[in-house]
Amino acid sequence: MSESDTQKVAIITGAASGIGRATAELFARSGYKVAIFDVDRNIEKVAASIRHTGSTCLSAVGNVGDEGDVRSFIELVLDEFAGIDVLVNNAGIVLVSPVEEIDLADFLSVVRVNLGGAFLFCKYVVPVMKKQRGGSIVNMGSVSGHVGQVDYSVYGATKSSVIAFTRALPWELAPHHIRVNSISPGSVDTPMLRGDIEIESGRTGLPYEEVKRMREAEQAFNRWASLEEIAEAVFFIAGEKASFITGTDLLVDCGWVAK
Ligand SMILES: NC(=O)c1ccc[n+]([C@@H]2O[C@H](COP(=O)([O-])OP(=O)(O)OC[C@H]3O[C@@H](n4cnc5c(N)ncnc54)[C@H](O)[C@@H]3O)[C@@H](O)[C@H]2O)c1
Repeated sequence: MSESDTQKVAIITGAASGIGRATAELFARSGYKVAIFDVDRNIEKVAASIRHTGSTCLSAVGNVGDEGDVRSFIELVLDEFAGIDVLVNNAGIVLVSPVEEIDLADFLSVVRVNLGGAFLFCKYVVPVMKKQRGGSIVNMGSVSGHVGQVDYSVYGATKSSVIAFTRALPWELAPHHIRVNSISPGSVDTPMLRGDIEIESGRTGLPYEEVKRMREAEQAFNRWASLEEIAEAVFFIAGEKASFITGTDLLVDCGWVAK
């Protein structure tokens, strides 16, 4: 058996930037073959840079909320890699707005990506993991699924739904040795968060730097998490060292929710 045959396979969605990219790079560095998927064409550049380090990486452009895109991607992964050991449902979009200003179309698109994407990937990956008699799924929650925040009602609702999905699914999948967990980061320094700060600064009239300081103070260490700090948590809970952990939401929020 060649070394490539024994390598585990991880799918990471939303890996063209931010947390997903850092997570894909960590899995690749740690010896996994990675399959990455994103609606943003930059995913091809991320794949090329992972392959440049000597790791095996497959990529595709697609929408996690589109059943055809998800089904084709899973077929591609199985053709190339034969199995799927880890699924990280990371892709997500944020919506920061007072509730009365949200169009139904925008509401539905956030639900479709944040909850629908995790659902569709599970729908197509679970039969593969069942056949293999094992696997591990990590969904991306958020502190916004745990605490109330001004203008985050719809985003928070999608994230608490992801956490509820994560609580129920392990009971369905435990007989097949499939674990399901979620990670709920606090504020992580990504373009997504910096965009939110700009919106909040516009809404409140406060300077960007002041809003940023207030948002940093929600964490006990008065700073935002790095991408790597979240990627490490995903990697831990996805892997064998977390073999007795299923149905859990791991807060990586530096004390925010505990306060
Ligand atoms: N940044 C934070 O502070 C923070 C905190 C808590 C949770 N999260 C969650 O972490 C995850 C990653 O966010 P991030 O901060 O790295 O943001 P990001 O915007 O840098 O990355 C999100 C990625 O998902 C992709 N994506 C969006 N819609 C998609 C779709 N329909 N199909 C496929 N890919 C799609 C984007 O193109 C992007 O590459 C999200 O689920 C987000 O809700 C982020």
